Amino acid sequence: MTKKVRAGMCVTASFMAVVFFIIGLAQTQSEQQAENRITIHADKGQHRINKYIYGHFSEHLGRCIYEGYWVGKDSSIKNMHGIRQDVVDALKKIRIPVLRWPGGCFADEYHWKDGIGPKEGRPTMVNTHWGKVTENNHFGTHEFLDLCKQLGCEAYISGNVGSGTVREMQEWVEYSTFDGKSPMADLRRKNGQESAWKLRFFGVGNENWGCGGNMRPEYYADIYRQYQTYVRNFSGNRIYKIACGAYSDNYRWTEVLMKEAGSRMNGLSFHYYTVPGGWGNKNSATEFGEAEWFETLKLSLRMDEFIRKHGTIMDKYDPKKRVGMIVDEWGTWYQVEPGTNPSFLYQQNTLRDALVAALTLNIFNNHCDRVYMANLAQTINVLQALILTQHEKMTVTPTYYVFDLYKVHQDAMLLPVDIQCDRYRYKDDEIPSLSVSASQDRAGKIHVSMCNLDPNNSVEVLCDVRGVQIGKISGKILTHSDMTAHNSFESPERVKPGIFRNFQKKDNRIIIVVPSKSAIVLEINK
Ligand code: AHR
Repeated sequence: MTKKVRAGMCVTASFMAVVFFIIGLAQTQSEQQAENRITIHADKGQHRINKYIYGHFSEHLGRCIYEGYWVGKDSSIKNMHGIRQDVVDALKKIRIPVLRWPGGCFADEYHWKDGIGPKEGRPTMVNTHWGKVTENNHFGTHEFLDLCKQLGCEAYISGNVGSGTVREMQEWVEYSTFDGKSPMADLRRKNGQESAWKLRFFGVGNENWGCGGNMRPEYYADIYRQYQTYVRNFSGNRIYKIACGAYSDNYRWTEVLMKEAGSRMNGLSFHYYTVPGGWGNKNSATEFGEAEWFETLKLSLRMDEFIRKHGTIMDKYDPKKRVGMIVDEWGTWYQVEPGTNPSFLYQQNTLRDALVAALTLNIFNNHCDRVYMANLAQTINVLQALILTQHEKMTVTPTYYVFDLYKVHQDAMLLPVDIQCDRYRYKDDEIPSLSVSASQDRAGKIHVSMCNLDPNNSVEVLCDVRGVQIGKISGKILTHSDMTAHNSFESPERVKPGIFRNFQKKDNRIIIVVPSKSAIVLEINK
């Protein structure tokens, strides 16, 4: 014990009371002045974070389906019924809840009957959108629904409106889901599948304002009403019907669709990609500096504005929020990796992508009263992929680890969070330094996911948890000293999560030091 403290022990009780009061006051004032504070209202949860927000999208594009999932039964790569097992295991680990297929733009020129029956007899087609390569149709309806079964996830099929008929769409649903006697159900049995599948999600076209037929919203709204009529519920299967929605700030599309067809849909899709540099001058995925880092995160944060604004229009026609917003394509889009086919959209994935995923998932969580599903584009070897493959090699990306860390939010109760934080300033521009969401799972554990978008400064945050007495806390972190860090087949573990300990519990509060350019998830036990 120091002399100073011993001397302090001699002072009178009243003097001590004054000292404690002054110290307490000073502490309270400094806490009030703390620039970074979050308040979690643990007793005010109202909405569940639908697990489908953690969904994915895979198209017949480049090496996503072929090589990514499908290697064929005779491959030396370990597979079940032709589907590689390393990717199935990796996706099961993050509890993939739903998978959207076969496109994308590919969906509106895909004719499902070309992809059933013995493989040798399946006709080929030209994949006109993605490099005009020949599609051999070896991966079709049976293979996709088998993949979903292996993954333990729901299937989301996008139907062909742009170049397909109403009958074709009607028969696809009958083929897949009818368990009685009918021409389509009999054809399915002939092709080896006795029982009907469960098919939960069906999209009536994709980007029909663009690659899916260049339609005006008024025209598509009528077409949607017609096509969806024949998307039937058979044999106890109940289909959640998804209409094609807008891209980015095309609010007129949402207005017309909700007005003319809102009552006939369960979900309305929405697409938005983060394209730093713009469509004509895209960034490199791995060679960038702070300017591109800042631009990418700023563009990604726009997702919040789009959800609010499209959501406001939806509220006008659907105040009870019956229609789900289905963000069925999102993610980063850069230049392809040097030396690869430009139409195959193969890009690397760095810590920057992980932060994009982390902040976007926080946005979706915080809007879970309207956002029912989201599907990151495109799972394997295409755009913001979770997994990269090269022959028998496979590596997971920093984005994969965000889905792994955030899986705790699936189906948990969203907890409202008030955030007060510093700005991350770059040149004459700025964005908030922190992105946060919180939820409580069925076992009562609270999870807080927090990103520090600033690549230069750590952020000290005072986290106040209201409504519960907090107990043991643990944490995980994804970060790296190099903002361009990524995993490759040579160094597959350069970016991976670690244990996070930089927090301190104080009364019912937590002081957290969030390192620069990091995503953390805290688990708080009651
Ligand atoms: O994900 C790549 C493409 O982006 C999809 O095919 C299309 O729907 C969107 O424009």
